[in-house]
Amino acid sequence: MIVSQLGRLTLTAGTGWGSVSLLKKLDTDNYNVVVISPRNYFLFTPLLPSCTTGNIEHRSIMEPIRQILRHKTTSVQYYEAEATSIDPEKKVVRITDNSEVKGKTSETEVPYDMLVIGVGAENATFNIPGVREHTCFLKEIGDAQNIRKKIMDCVETAAFKDQSDEEIDRLLHMVVVGGGPTGVEFAGELQDFFEQDIKKLIPNISPRFKVTLIEALPSVLPSFSKTLIDYTENAFKEQTIEIMTQTFVKRITDTSVVAEVARPGGKKEQVEIPYGLLVWATGNATRPVVRDLAKKIPAQTNPRGLAVNEYLVVQGCQDVWAVGDCAVAGYAPTAQVAAQEGAFLGRLFNNMAKTDDLRDHIGELSRSLNVKPGDSAKIADEIEACEKQLQRIKDVRPFHYTHQGSLAYIGSDKAVADVKWWNANLATGGTGTYLFWRSAYLSMCFSTRNRLLVMNDWAKSKIFGRDVSRE
Ligand code: FAD
Ligand code: NAI
Repeated sequence: MIVSQLGRLTLTAGTGWGSVSLLKKLDTDNYNVVVISPRNYFLFTPLLPSCTTGNIEHRSIMEPIRQILRHKTTSVQYYEAEATSIDPEKKVVRITDNSEVKGKTSETEVPYDMLVIGVGAENATFNIPGVREHTCFLKEIGDAQNIRKKIMDCVETAAFKDQSDEEIDRLLHMVVVGGGPTGVEFAGELQDFFEQDIKKLIPNISPRFKVTLIEALPSVLPSFSKTLIDYTENAFKEQTIEIMTQTFVKRITDTSVVAEVARPGGKKEQVEIPYGLLVWATGNATRPVVRDLAKKIPAQTNPRGLAVNEYLVVQGCQDVWAVGDCAVAGYAPTAQVAAQEGAFLGRLFNNMAKTDDLRDHIGELSRSLNVKPGDSAKIADEIEACEKQLQRIKDVRPFHYTHQGSLAYIGSDKAVADVKWWNANLATGGTGTYLFWRSAYLSMCFSTRNRLLVMNDWAKSKIFGRDVSRE
């Protein structure tokens, strides 16, 4: 996003958690704001895994950026485009319209006075052969739709007349690589889908259905507490989801995963696992525009993103800030962090605008000091009051992240939560936590419209089952 002030042009790249939180807080009366993103909506990512099985319909967790911008007091410009390169010297961003429909102009430059980069991250593949060609990611709405179609394609193909037993087993084997929260939540949703709907609709093949979660580290959910890791692993065992830990995927073919398993005693064994659907959820990598900018700034050497200072200013750069997954500020790449960083910048920019207004006002007062001699004492008092106010505003504290806890759905109407309770950490799992998970995410949905749609989807799939038609 580009954010520029009236006279200052502010540009924001992205319509994700970081940028939208900034936009919500920013007083647009003070800035000329331009938003650039190839995605013309905000996506509520915590409920994205539920869209892969149709438990929630994808449009229920999308909020059009035009709708968000409509509520700002001053008009904000939005361009549906990708920022392809940033020139911090000339202060311009090159943008390209990569959508299907293109006009005669599909590439141009946008100048900025202040730039906020909130472009998020892309999927990490570690250059493992076959990942891009054969696997599904789970980051965007299109990914969830793709997975939903592919699940049903595998099921219907397994049910095809005269399909061999071996082929049915392969097609109904759903493999998830990456035991972080994305992989765990997806595996849980998938098993629910089979237990609650597919089993009833296609009973003859359903006993062959299997979900396997592959993780390179010794346990899943490494960022959660040990109690919750154990709870999740036991819950998965009960749900018959197989967890393969200490298993590092090395290569993917169109029908199988080739992985190296570290056996007790340090022996390594190569295994080949046939699959019908493979979801790749191994975390984040930096986007090309971020890598390209980092190369232009000698101070930027962190491969995980743009290193920022405690005010989220990109180090080695002037008038450029970064928020969310593309920024390296010492926090995990989560929506919570991105949202707090965006809100912080909104407040910071509002303060900066106030500071400039006050400075101008002090300048005007100073100039008028000796014009009418009788007014001097009153004007001097006003100048003093303005300077005090200016000092208060200038004393902005650096960004401080407040962790409110971690939540994850693990299937079978159970969730795990690591939350702060007074001054203690509370680790809890089960159906009660699942109700808490539901209410927490429902309350965090972007708008009342989203909230109502999500509630409606939950009720619909509970009463009528998930819609298994393949679009
Ligand atoms: P994003 O929200 O990813 O937004 C990036 C924006 O930049 C998008 O609008 C994108 O279109 C745009 N963009 C991309 N490239 C360009 C470009 N070149 N130019 C301009 N714009 C560009 N976190 C939690 O805290 N709790 C959760 O429960 C949770 N669940 C998750 C579930 C899933 C399935 C996933 C994938 C993530 C989840 N996360 C969760 C993590 C969270 O979604 C991210 O940390 C968060 O989205 C980061 O916000 P962001 O603003 O940095 O990036
Ligand atoms: P992640 O980075 O948290 O986990 C990826 C996992 O993949 C790691 O545990 C890693 O060891 C494993 N891995 C990497 N390469 C592998 C290989 N070749 N073979 C086998 N395993 C391999 O990624 P995830 O889950 O996508 O999350 C990204 C961010 O989003 C995190 O910060 C996470 O906290 C956040 N998030 C939070 C959620 C929540 O709070 N409910 C839900 C989803 C994401």
